[in-house]
Amino acid sequence: MSKAIISPSVLASDLSKLSDECQRMIDNGCDWLHMDVMDGHFVPNITMGAPILSCVRDNVPDIFMDVHMMVSDPLKWVPEIAQAGGKSYTFHYEATSDHEAVISSIHSHGMKAGLAISPDTPSSVITDSLGNAVDLLLVMTVQPGKGGQKFIAGCLEKVTELRKRFPSKNIQVDGGVGSGNACQCAAAGSNVLVAGTAVFGSQDPKKTIQELRTAVDG
Ligand code: DX5
Ligand code: ZN
Repeated sequence: MSKAIISPSVLASDLSKLSDECQRMIDNGCDWLHMDVMDGHFVPNITMGAPILSCVRDNVPDIFMDVHMMVSDPLKWVPEIAQAGGKSYTFHYEATSDHEAVISSIHSHGMKAGLAISPDTPSSVITDSLGNAVDLLLVMTVQPGKGGQKFIAGCLEKVTELRKRFPSKNIQVDGGVGSGNACQCAAAGSNVLVAGTAVFGSQDPKKTIQELRTAVDG
């Protein structure tokens, strides 16, 4: 089984000090930083885009930016996000009908490709060829669009199903994840845990990150 990757979602950070917040989480032992890009169209909210990511990259050069694109036109933003320092580009299955074109563009821009499914989307849409074409599968455990929502445990059935078909793939869960349900996520087969509120709201983020890691690695 793949090793734990802990990716705090910066949406729950003090965004006025974004670079410092990212550095703080790196100092506390995270692996990646999860950057939620929302376009106000695929989801109702607007968050950040390439100009902000590039400032973070300039201030925190060692960062691995795990960029979660909640946007209606995922193909459009690939060059800008790559230029801004994105390392992994995860787009939503629901946002496009030409998944292969987006994946191929992401790879040609030197990023890892991730494919996300929202809670109402079954795992069966991820065919073997689509799953094998990406580097990461993201199973949303809340409706995309905002932080701080309640974890939907029923989504973990999809993680179990995908883990059977993709034994060595990075499988990420995102939404309402924290120390209280990380073991459930890991038991279902997820090894990449995104946590916003749980980590940034913690009195001891280092301990919380360690707890999340232990849930996956044992
Ligand atoms: C939701 C975002 C998540 C969210 C996670 O649309 O994709 O990354 O910010 O935050 P928490 O852990 O607070 O649910
Ligand atoms: Zn996210």
